[in-house]
Amino acid sequence: MEKIIINGGNPLKGTITVSGAKNAVLPIMAASLLAEGPCRLMDIPRLADVTTMSEVLGFLGGRIVPEGPQEMEIDCSEITSVEAPYEYVRRMRASFLVMGPLLARVGRARMSLPGGCAIGTRPIDLHLKGFAALGASISIGHGSIEATAPELVGARVYLDFPSVGATENIMMAAALAKGVTVIENAAEEPEIVDLANFLCSMGARVMGAGTKIIKIEGVKHMRGVTHGVIPDRIEAGTYMVMAAATGGDVLVDNVITDHLKPVVAKLAEAGVQVKEEGSGIRVRSSRPLCAVDIKTLPYPGFPTDMQAQTMALMTGAQGTSVVTETVFENRFMHVNELKRMGASIIIEGHSAVVKGVPRLTGAKVKATDLRAGAALVVAGLMADGETEIAAVQHIDRGYENMVQKLQAVGADITREERDGEECRLCD
Ligand code: UD1
Repeated sequence: MEKIIINGGNPLKGTITVSGAKNAVLPIMAASLLAEGPCRLMDIPRLADVTTMSEVLGFLGGRIVPEGPQEMEIDCSEITSVEAPYEYVRRMRASFLVMGPLLARVGRARMSLPGGCAIGTRPIDLHLKGFAALGASISIGHGSIEATAPELVGARVYLDFPSVGATENIMMAAALAKGVTVIENAAEEPEIVDLANFLCSMGARVMGAGTKIIKIEGVKHMRGVTHGVIPDRIEAGTYMVMAAATGGDVLVDNVITDHLKPVVAKLAEAGVQVKEEGSGIRVRSSRPLCAVDIKTLPYPGFPTDMQAQTMALMTGAQGTSVVTETVFENRFMHVNELKRMGASIIIEGHSAVVKGVPRLTGAKVKATDLRAGAALVVAGLMADGETEIAAVQHIDRGYENMVQKLQAVGADITREERDGEECRLCD
């Protein structure tokens, strides 16, 4: 079993270049199903989730040709299957994002039910509500969902919660529908804007992406195009937190600073020096930091995908911080692991009360999901002694070459085969 081994205490110094955004590339790859010709995607991160989405598209009949380390061509001119099997949906919930484009392109899509995952039940009712509003018939049975629609017709869809995935799936379905679709209370995440830009360059008519109301005027055909994916704001935020946690001085390069405003604001409040520099953000800190409260919210609020890493940072701050999770129901799996390293954390409902301690100590811990894994790396970099992180496959889902990127800025971190119990992928 591969594990990440960290000997903590080294301040990070140097430059880390951020890769393309996982949460942008996955819906964009799914949207390639809408095009009648090949799409060329650039700035693609090499991640396990990107491999899974390539496999899903290949299963549906797509032809995926990697072109260089960060590029790929996806040709979904011929769709030969309308079903995403359990094997893929179990491995990655975002497989569900092929449902909207499949419905729009061939009038039928069947998906295995994603089921629960480590961070909560994560239903898909809002995706289905959107498809039904556009005229699809939905049937659920034998562990799968089928949607059929000889013709999708534009409609008004109000989302009870600004779900990122539902907004994306409905946008993609509506792109080839007849007439106008309006999504109200839509998600405003930057990844939604990147998807909208991709769709528009393919010939779709999408207006208002990045606001709460998105209007899509359906078109008859969409063409293959070339598109570069935006940088990953969560990867950037994670390295900013790691720089702050180690009292380092790091230029986190290739970022869109606007996307990082909530993270920058909280780091500055904690006493970290954060400064825009060229195409990057320089983070300098000298410990100890001050405790700050965090409440996760849909964009432009503080991202739930940065909650675990920021909580790890707060375990070493001076004072007590309250970290409140409002987006997912069960996103505190990292708390028990952080406590194994000496953190003082009490969970009270949707909040975690974190009392800063002078030092964490290295321990054997396990990544329970992607961002929980990143939080353990933050803790390991701060801790005295050796931290051994198991189940690193979770980290591979969302961080390209994390170990190499951290080694290059002075971290004592390696990946090694060591004995230990198997952990199944659960998200
Ligand atoms: C996306 C991101 C994920 C991020 C999350 C929130 C991708 C591939 N993943 O996930 O990294 O943590 O946004 O920023 O982009 N919900 C419902 N019904 C639905 C859909 C969602 O109740 O039909 C609930 C979920 O259970 C959750 C909340 O809405 O509590 C947010 O989920 P959503 O925004 O849909 O997240 P994802 O698109 O799955």
